[in-house]
Amino acid sequence: MGWPRVALAPILVKPMRANASALYRATFGVAPRAAASAPGRVNLIGEHTDYNGGPVLPVACAVRTVVAVGPADLGVLEMVSTRDGQVTRIDYRAERPAGWGAYVAGVMHELVALGAAPLEGGARIAVTSDVPIAAGLASSAALTVATAKALSLLAGARLRPRQLAGVAFRAEHDYVGVRCGMMDQMIAAVARPGQALLLECASLAARHIPIGGRLLLVDSGVRRELAAGALNERRAECEAAVARLKNELPELRWLASWPAAWLPRLKRALPEPLRSRALHVVGETARARFGAQLLARGHLKRFGELLYESHESCRRLYHCSTPELDTIVAAARRAGALGARLTGAGWGGAVLVLLGKGEAGRGKREAQVVREIQQTFAAAYGREPGVSMVHPSGGVRREAVR
Ligand code: GLA
Repeated sequence: MGWPRVALAPILVKPMRANASALYRATFGVAPRAAASAPGRVNLIGEHTDYNGGPVLPVACAVRTVVAVGPADLGVLEMVSTRDGQVTRIDYRAERPAGWGAYVAGVMHELVALGAAPLEGGARIAVTSDVPIAAGLASSAALTVATAKALSLLAGARLRPRQLAGVAFRAEHDYVGVRCGMMDQMIAAVARPGQALLLECASLAARHIPIGGRLLLVDSGVRRELAAGALNERRAECEAAVARLKNELPELRWLASWPAAWLPRLKRALPEPLRSRALHVVGETARARFGAQLLARGHLKRFGELLYESHESCRRLYHCSTPELDTIVAAARRAGALGARLTGAGWGGAVLVLLGKGEAGRGKREAQVVREIQQTFAAAYGREPGVSMVHPSGGVRREAVR
């Protein structure tokens, strides 16, 4: 059998956003009154640490979700997206929509609670997006943050980016019931172009850090819906671990705050699988903080090693990897990438690959890494993974209404 075709260039995926205003007009027969967009994200390091009160280091990517809105009668939500093309009409005060509509309804409820909902009390909403769903790029946060911004503009309310993140988080966590942390909503709201965000999730203290290297994203093509339970199960395990560890350290509130020097005590106190989950969280917390320092100082090689270590911990201790993701990481390492790891919740989705910045012949090195990954993956699974370049981008913004 010969090798399948290898796409060397371009590896850059250009965002192909359809026009949300045009969709709104075509569906509802009038122009929208406001529009906003928010990005997907790629997490560099700090996985499954956010809901444990630890640090994360995400960047926003160039793919975005755009939401165009206009008024509707009290209680009415009319929603359409290019993904399904169907118009859903509900009374959001009485019904709970299925699918992506639940995220929109959650945002509406939160805005009502804040006194920042559209005056008419209802809304029409058109959504277009090039953020892939369930690919580990936080498509739900892009949707909720963009919706929160667009609806608050319609209401004439001035919500700060952090407030938008709060609305979006509560919509997903409290209304939809995905027990996520706040990483995705915060980066979608406050990201800056060319920079990663070091976010300490217990205090929400944030620092922007310029990114030196170049980042590739390799999509394994395996999809998993978060709400389906794996994330909620891990979170319950982490809470069970904290409950037991409180016998050792009554002040302990967050698993990420367990002192790294007390690992023997942690191991003694916890049975499996709580022990493995807790070891991942404590180790990943240290790696993410150290990684942020290395990135800030431009020590990309050492930073890359931490990415490989993080993947190994996700695989071995947190059990959130898949054979496809492991295959991609191993191929990236063989081809000489500085680092690689699954990004996002895991159980499918994508791998982030770190390449050096300005070394001579960099195009050649990039092509070599891409080829190695594609050939290895195709030999194992009979198909090529999607490869794209990550362009660290800005957060939520108002869009022109056309
Ligand atoms: C999902 C959640 C995030 C975070 C990651 C894992 O993306 O939405 O809050 O927990 O998983 O790091």
